[in-house]
Amino acid sequence: MTPLLDAFSDTPLDCPHWLSPCGTVLLINSDSMAVLQRMHAKSVNCVVTDPPYNIGEQYANYEDNRVAYYEWCEEWLSHCLCVAECVLVTPGTPNLTHWTKFKHDPAWIHCWYKPNATNRSGARWVNVWEPVLRYGGKWRHYHDSLRLSIGRQTDTGNHPCPKPLKWGTWAVTGVSDAGQIVLDPFSGSGTTPVACIQTGRRCIAIEIDPGYFAVGISRCEAAFADTATFFGRPVQRELA
Ligand SMILES: C[S@@+](CC[C@H](N)C(=O)[O-])C[C@H]1O[C@@H](n2cnc3c(N)ncnc32)[C@H](O)[C@@H]1O
Repeated sequence: MTPLLDAFSDTPLDCPHWLSPCGTVLLINSDSMAVLQRMHAKSVNCVVTDPPYNIGEQYANYEDNRVAYYEWCEEWLSHCLCVAECVLVTPGTPNLTHWTKFKHDPAWIHCWYKPNATNRSGARWVNVWEPVLRYGGKWRHYHDSLRLSIGRQTDTGNHPCPKPLKWGTWAVTGVSDAGQIVLDPFSGSGTTPVACIQTGRRCIAIEIDPGYFAVGISRCEAAFADTATFFGRPVQRELA
């Protein structure tokens, strides 16, 4: 098994990071653009990510009102498509039309249907779905959409907008096989790495905020403690 640190052009990493004792999860506390530029081409199998939407979300430190936001998104998407063959990303419903003007075209637009959502819709009343763009790769699920209500999460610290863990397991199992490496350059409270632990994937996750990075480590430690093993390998859980 290739060590996760081999994905980088120079080691050791010079920013705070945490490598799980079994070596299957690497969390990095840094700006993902800087880290992506240090990664070898095709050094991971896929990217699953949920970037900030530039809608003024109240993060602890990150200001969610970046100037030239779409240029920034197009730049990190290009880096992701260099390091991986497949990228699954939630662009945010209000940003979807801009993403369709980028130089890379998605292979498919998947859908997360949230029956109990209450966000205002640009159409008229309530917005109950989110686009999930997939660039490249192949889709492993029979259906191209997920129906999953939003619920309160208790282990995600003060992160204002964690994705549900079931969303994370749907996403990582949709674009990767067990044992493969998933990269999340905007990992927040660590939903993607926890989903990877639960489903037997390896994971590199990057988060700029030290507090959310720390929450991610705690969640991963708890997930490892909770994951049943069979001869040292995680037992793959079925999606409910
Ligand atoms: C929508 S949240 C991700 C939430 C995550 N899916 C979860 O379930 O917790 C986006 C995250 O990107 C982080 N972020 C913003 N700019 C970043 C950057 N340049 N590098 C790394 N992380 C960044 C923010 O701090 C925030 O936690």
